Amino acid sequence: MTEENKQRFFAPCPRGLEAVLAGELAELGAEGIKPAEGGVGFSGAMSVAYSANLHSRIASRVLWEVGSGRYRSEDDVYRGVNALDWPQLFDGVLTIRVNVAAVRSPLNSLDFITLRIKDAVCDRFRTQTGVRPSVDTAQPDVRLHAFLETDRFTLYLDTSGEPLFKRGARQMTGEAPLRENLAAGILKLSGWTPDLPLLDPMCGSGTFLIEALQIARGIPPGAQRNFAFEKLRNFDEAQWSRIKTQAESTPAPNPSPAIFGSDLYGEALKLARVNLAAAGFADVAHLKQANMLEISAPAAEGVLVANPPYGVRIGEQDELASFYPQVGDALKKKFAGWRAYIFTADMRLPKLIGLSPSKRTPLYNGALECRLYEFKIVAGAMRREKKEQDSGRRTRD
Ligand SMILES: C[S@@+](CC[C@H](N)C(=O)[O-])C[C@H]1O[C@@H](n2cnc3c(N)ncnc32)[C@H](O)[C@@H]1O
Repeated sequence: MTEENKQRFFAPCPRGLEAVLAGELAELGAEGIKPAEGGVGFSGAMSVAYSANLHSRIASRVLWEVGSGRYRSEDDVYRGVNALDWPQLFDGVLTIRVNVAAVRSPLNSLDFITLRIKDAVCDRFRTQTGVRPSVDTAQPDVRLHAFLETDRFTLYLDTSGEPLFKRGARQMTGEAPLRENLAAGILKLSGWTPDLPLLDPMCGSGTFLIEALQIARGIPPGAQRNFAFEKLRNFDEAQWSRIKTQAESTPAPNPSPAIFGSDLYGEALKLARVNLAAAGFADVAHLKQANMLEISAPAAEGVLVANPPYGVRIGEQDELASFYPQVGDALKKKFAGWRAYIFTADMRLPKLIGLSPSKRTPLYNGALECRLYEFKIVAGAMRREKKEQDSGRRTRD
């Protein structure tokens, strides 16, 4: 790859997953990898961005850096944006949307600078070609992102379009479903590999199960969808088709993984079934309606992942406070030999569950600060706890 072919990109992701995303991008051939808060910068040919869109389970988008400059005022930004040869990047008949994010910018109004950036692009099109793109904020063909820092702006074209956690299969959502890229990141952090049994005992709409099955079957997360880069002028269809063909011919890590899901409510399981079928996994996962407190481990060892309901109201908070110790007891009684990963925003969990977490990873679900707690359930945990109770020395984390 020549230096001219090398482009700079930024892939945003859920906060806390930057290191996982950096590892994923390195495997896809990215260079100059620079994790930042909420995403990872990298460089490479456009084909690396195509691969990242198709294969990244963690990125929310892949943004292509097309310009940058210094500014002090709205007019400086207008001039910097207007100076770029936009008609060479995409066709003026396409619709656009401008997004602005700012950190310590001196400008007063983000709405106003968003408008000025849109004008700068449209004015450039009109003077150069006589045609100008129109704005579509709901379903634009082309998304432009501007990132404003203290005295510097950076402009990006979004190569993804719809965010990458939208995998393409029809999804029905239940109570507080996890975003797919957050679920995939949690699976990665758990160290689960497709040769190990996986159980989500509070599976809701089945997000963990679907992500795990895609990983095991070697199905790229973007296999069922389109990307915005297909609409850009520099789209290399032959290259894209080579990347997809190569993905199709890569063998699956484990075509028949042992994936188990259960939920207290039949309605939730119905959703999980619909979503699994839409993703092409009808009847592949073992699903059953059950109370997490009453299930037995489906294998001698494995990985359990769960995100329990998060109580917002006082009553729910109290209910959860009495639920967690029971979850801890169920894990100790029935899951010796398993590793359990519980993802929650409820910081009371480790104290109340009665098990010492071997790891706590801070992660964000949108703006909500959460933790992923790791518990290694060892055989005899119950016996030890019983002994401690008998001798009046009960210890809790
Ligand atoms: C936050 S949601 C999980 C969402 C899921 N990860 C998804 O992406 O759709 C919590 C789930 O726990 C289930 N649940 C609550 N109490 C339960 C219990 N005692 N046993 C099993 N499932 C339970 C709820 O029905 C709900 O589907």
